[in-house]
Amino acid sequence: MNTILLGAQWGDEGKGKVVDHLSEKADYVIRFQGGNNAGHSLWVNGKKTVLHLIPSGILHPQTLCLIGEGVVLDPNVLIEEINKLKEANVFKNTHDRIRVSERTHVILPLHRAVDVARETSAKGTKAHIGTTGRGIGPAYETKALRRGIRVIDLFDETKVFEEKLDFLFNEYRHHFTAVQIAEIKQQTLNEVEVWKKLFEPLLVDMTSFLKKAMNEGKKCLFEGAQGVMLDMDHGTYPYVTSSYTTAPSAGIGAGFPKLTQKSRVLGIAKAYVTRVGSGPFVTEMLGKHVPGEEVLCENIRKIGQEFGATTGRPRRIGWQDLVALKYAVDVGGIDELAIMKGDVLAGLGDFKICTSYRKPDGTEWATFPSRADDLAKVIPHYEAVPAFKKATPDDPNYDAYLKRIEAFVGVPVKYVGFGPEREQMALR
Ligand code: GDP
Ligand code: IMO
Ligand code: MG
Repeated sequence: MNTILLGAQWGDEGKGKVVDHLSEKADYVIRFQGGNNAGHSLWVNGKKTVLHLIPSGILHPQTLCLIGEGVVLDPNVLIEEINKLKEANVFKNTHDRIRVSERTHVILPLHRAVDVARETSAKGTKAHIGTTGRGIGPAYETKALRRGIRVIDLFDETKVFEEKLDFLFNEYRHHFTAVQIAEIKQQTLNEVEVWKKLFEPLLVDMTSFLKKAMNEGKKCLFEGAQGVMLDMDHGTYPYVTSSYTTAPSAGIGAGFPKLTQKSRVLGIAKAYVTRVGSGPFVTEMLGKHVPGEEVLCENIRKIGQEFGATTGRPRRIGWQDLVALKYAVDVGGIDELAIMKGDVLAGLGDFKICTSYRKPDGTEWATFPSRADDLAKVIPHYEAVPAFKKATPDDPNYDAYLKRIEAFVGVPVKYVGFGPEREQMALR
């Protein structure tokens, strides 16, 4: 049985930790979407490792870590991450541990510049998404525009490659002056040789590679980035990322859907909710709906260290939102859940869970609202959850909270995280 692991909220649920935990029994760990907008933190024996691109199974020496064609890849980030892991003696030879699909699209300096330019000009308006500024949206955009550069294209003859760059740059000439375009293009050309050296030994055709893996009975763990509520189609559009974060995306982004048909889908959620960037957040603790919630919000941020692993931004914090979680289970294709970070809430008193969304006229939303403006006006209806001392399944109050989640969303809570360390996870 393979596992597809997804974020079931707005990202940062603790996916990295769970992937690291489960990788002990995996042969291949595969990223299939997103890019270095992701920040996955792993704690092993008091030492922290943050990964943005390389799958979070890398700390287990028997795994081969693959980057599928659904990912958008910034080569400089990959180089930096490999160097850090080598310095930490995680591996010596990159080829022993990492492979990259030759069809993966490359994030170029142009993509980053467009991302930053757009966000800067949208500041203070509803068009400001609060992206990570890593060029993710523009890279997926040029892929759909059929002007993107894939890893394999870096190996074109110089003339052919430059022509592709010119077609691409032409699409963005209105963003930059001719001098800026020339500079960004030159910056790209200067780096290509280094990137080719990096990629040459790592490239694979994912479909044939994974077909062989399947025939050999390899165990695969598919590592999702972001979360279902940031999915381009099903998330809180337009405040989403630019890739598909639901289970079917694993088959597409890894290039071998047959493998994911034999998978269970594990959704990762926190015992509360966080979100980074702009967009509606129904249960956010802003003092709008529950008196005193801003104080609890600060406590959770401090105890849970809720600051972005990629951008360092303070994460927005809210009560558990079971309406959103149920929607994420349905639309994400989730079979079972892991609930993380309950330990952060232990000792903080009674907690609330949102069990219905009300309209300003008092009636209830029958389905998850698809318009951001409607979501922004939702009045959350809460149920109280009695305080718990420990966030482990043997604490009766915590167990009651987990059972309430199961009854509401309709899938079992299989794992519970009660601390950042690899071993601080229990199977229920
Ligand atoms: P990801 O993007 O989903 O991989 O999550 P991040 O790594 O961005 O953020 C999750 C944070 O919570 C990291 O700092 C983890 O070390 C930490 N973490 C994960 N699980 C737990 C848990 O059960 N309890 C506590 N206290 N921290 C956790
Ligand atoms: P992991 O894998 C939390 C958010 C950004 C922004 C929106 C679009 O660590 O859970 P983008 O740069 O993707 O165009 O930004 O998506 N976002 C994340 N939030 N965790 C992440 O990844 C995220 N990746 C993107 O904050 O709101
Ligand atoms: Mg993260």
